[in-house]
Amino acid sequence: MGSDTITLLSKREIEKMRRAGILAAQLLDHLAPMVQPGVSTLELNDEAERWTQAHGAKSAPLGYHGFPKSICTSVNEVICHGIPNEKQILQDGDIINIDVTPILDGYYGDTSKTFFVGTPSSTAKKLVEVTEECLRRGIAAVKPNGKIGDIGAAIQEYAEAQGFSVVRDFVGHGISNIFHTAPQIPHYGTKGKGKRLRPGMVFTIEPMINEGTWEAMILEDKWTAITKDGKLSAQFEHTLAVTEDGVEILTLPE
Ligand code: MF3
Ligand code: CO
Ligand code: CO
Repeated sequence: MGSDTITLLSKREIEKMRRAGILAAQLLDHLAPMVQPGVSTLELNDEAERWTQAHGAKSAPLGYHGFPKSICTSVNEVICHGIPNEKQILQDGDIINIDVTPILDGYYGDTSKTFFVGTPSSTAKKLVEVTEECLRRGIAAVKPNGKIGDIGAAIQEYAEAQGFSVVRDFVGHGISNIFHTAPQIPHYGTKGKGKRLRPGMVFTIEPMINEGTWEAMILEDKWTAITKDGKLSAQFEHTLAVTEDGVEILTLPE
C-alpha cells in the first residue's frame, strides 16, 4: 500500500492504540514535576527512557531517521524536534514542549505538552494557553464525514484572532504501527476542503503556534526547528481516533 493510502484501523488495533496512548499520557504526567529551573533537558530524556523501558515499551524517537535521543525537548523559540542536551539547563521563565512517543505492543502513542518553568511572562502565558485551546478546537472540529480542512481552519482562525501565527512546515500525521503515515493534518486551511474523515482513521493533531512569524529554520544539527525571528513557539499534541459519532482522544492518562 502506498504511503498516501489512509488506513482505517480495526477495533482491535484501536484498543492497542488506546493502551499506547494511555502510556504516553502517563509518561508526560510522570515527567511534569521534574520541569523546574536547574534541570537539564538530558535529565528529562534519561528519566523518560528509563520509565518507558520499565513499562515494557520503546521510545520511538530514538534512532528514528537518526534522531539521537528518546524524546523531543523544545525550549522557547524552538518549534519542535529539540534534542535533549546535558548543557541545556532550564531557567525560570522558559517554556518547554516535551514530546513523547512510546511504542507498546507495536503501536505508537504520540503526545506533547508545553510546560512553564517557574513563572512565565504574560506573553508566554497567553501563547501557551492559546495553543492548548487551538488543540482543543482542532479536536472539536473532527467529525465523521467532515473534512481534514475543518481541523486546520478551526485552529488557524483562533490562533490568528489572538494575534499569533500557525507553523506551516510541520503537520499532524496518521499513526498506528507506523510513526508517521497518511494523512497529513495541516494546522491551517479551509473548512470543507481536503480528504473526508471516516470512522477508524487515527491521526495526531499537534499545532505549533508562534508569537511572531510562522516561518521556521533548521539548525546545523539537522533537527532543531526554530522560529526565524527568535520569538516564542508553543505546541500541544494528542493522538485521536475518528469514531462513528465523533472523536476519541487516545492520549489521556485513563
Ligand atoms: N513526536 C514527534 C511528532 O509529533 C516526532 C518526533 S520525530 C523525532 O510527530 F525523530 F524527532 F523524534
Ligand atoms: Co506527532
Ligand atoms: Co509528537
